[in-house]
Amino acid sequence: SSYVTLDEGYGNTASCESAITYIDGEKGVLRYRGYPIEELAENSRFIEVAYLLLNGELPNSRQLLEFSTNLNESSIIHEDMHHFFNGFPRGSHPMGILATMVASLSTFYPLPDRLDSATEMQVVINLVSQVRTIAAFSYKKSIGEPLIYPSYKLKYVRNFLNMMFSSPVRDYQLDDDIVRAIDMFLILHADHEQNCSTSSVRTAGSSMANVYAVASAGISSLWGPRHGGANQQVIQMLEQIHAAGGDGTEFINQAKDKNSTSRLMGFGHRVYKNFDPRAMVLKKQCDKLFSKMGVSDPLFDIAKKLEEIALSDDYFISRKLYPNVDFYSGLILRAAGIPTNMFTVLFAIGRMPGWLAHWREMLHGEQVVITRPRQIYVGEPLRHYQNIEQRP
Ligand code: CMC
Repeated sequence: SSYVTLDEGYGNTASCESAITYIDGEKGVLRYRGYPIEELAENSRFIEVAYLLLNGELPNSRQLLEFSTNLNESSIIHEDMHHFFNGFPRGSHPMGILATMVASLSTFYPLPDRLDSATEMQVVINLVSQVRTIAAFSYKKSIGEPLIYPSYKLKYVRNFLNMMFSSPVRDYQLDDDIVRAIDMFLILHADHEQNCSTSSVRTAGSSMANVYAVASAGISSLWGPRHGGANQQVIQMLEQIHAAGGDGTEFINQAKDKNSTSRLMGFGHRVYKNFDPRAMVLKKQCDKLFSKMGVSDPLFDIAKKLEEIALSDDYFISRKLYPNVDFYSGLILRAAGIPTNMFTVLFAIGRMPGWLAHWREMLHGEQVVITRPRQIYVGEPLRHYQNIEQRP
């Protein structure tokens, strides 16, 4: 109808009101519940940020202890779900496994149609905790090692790294700098207002679908290379540049070529048009981590060089394309020994509290409106059915 206006990808349409995350794309500002991302990244811990996003306020010590204990107690997944991991073919992408396993939580932990507020909060905590267990189990299965259970003795990030890297015959030494870097990675990924996956969560949630299925919808949207999948692609690109011994000019030229569909991965953002504050924090963190550990990663040097070349190229300048969160994040994950195909999974672990904060905000809105965008119809006008003999 005539009042419908076209806004492809909703670049100019606010889909909701939200009190969770504030972004000023021109100034490179990002705040969770009013707190600048830089302050949270420097001083906070991921589970504290998760609490903040979900509840609106930073926790006091008692609240944090309760939250942390609850996360620990909710970290096991139903034992029968272990069989599922055996069913996936070898080499399955862990994002496919994660989306499937998170959706299947709905069958093991059935929910009533209407959630009371205690159940609602508990299911949120289950998801924030179990997503990490599922992620680590899918990795263990992929390398053919026995599953390592979560431990009540370990906090969130340590628990995850332990499930990933310990084995019955090998004690994994948790490195404080790595733990801190992964924690910061998760903080930086915890929310980003109405991005593609969060919009998927709100859209799926608006039909009042089961929350495990809703979270799975978020994971599925995140997987794509234009969204969370970019972090895996950035490292693959840097590895290729390293192997070929060039400086990446080839990739830049290919990304500029309008006849090619390839893009410079980790560059550009729908909202940030001067810089992505998360990329700034991560670049600094890479510097800090590598010098503290006394290691160097040739891919970090390639990334910095690539950024320099791109940012002196008119193509990128005129389109306001800068490194985004995915450009440097993979280097931190590499330093932690996380395999490349798990990068987007780590993004999903970080984003889970954000997705669920939006889901809750939507549920408690004054009026829950089902998401149902309109369209501009450009197909055939009215025509009449022809019997098959009459068709050309
Ligand atoms: N390399 C080369 N050209 C690019 C790139 C890039 N990375 N990003 C945008 N452009 C060009 C695009 O071709 C278009 O050119 P023209 O005007 O000549 O047609 C112009 O810049 C505007 O691009 P757009 O597609 O209209 O911008 P958008 O706001 O729709 O897309 C984006 C944003 C993030 C999807 C896009 O920049 C992109 O695909 N980047 C690469 C993938 C990536 O790094 N994604 C991670 C995003 S940040 C966090 C996350 O969500 O994971």
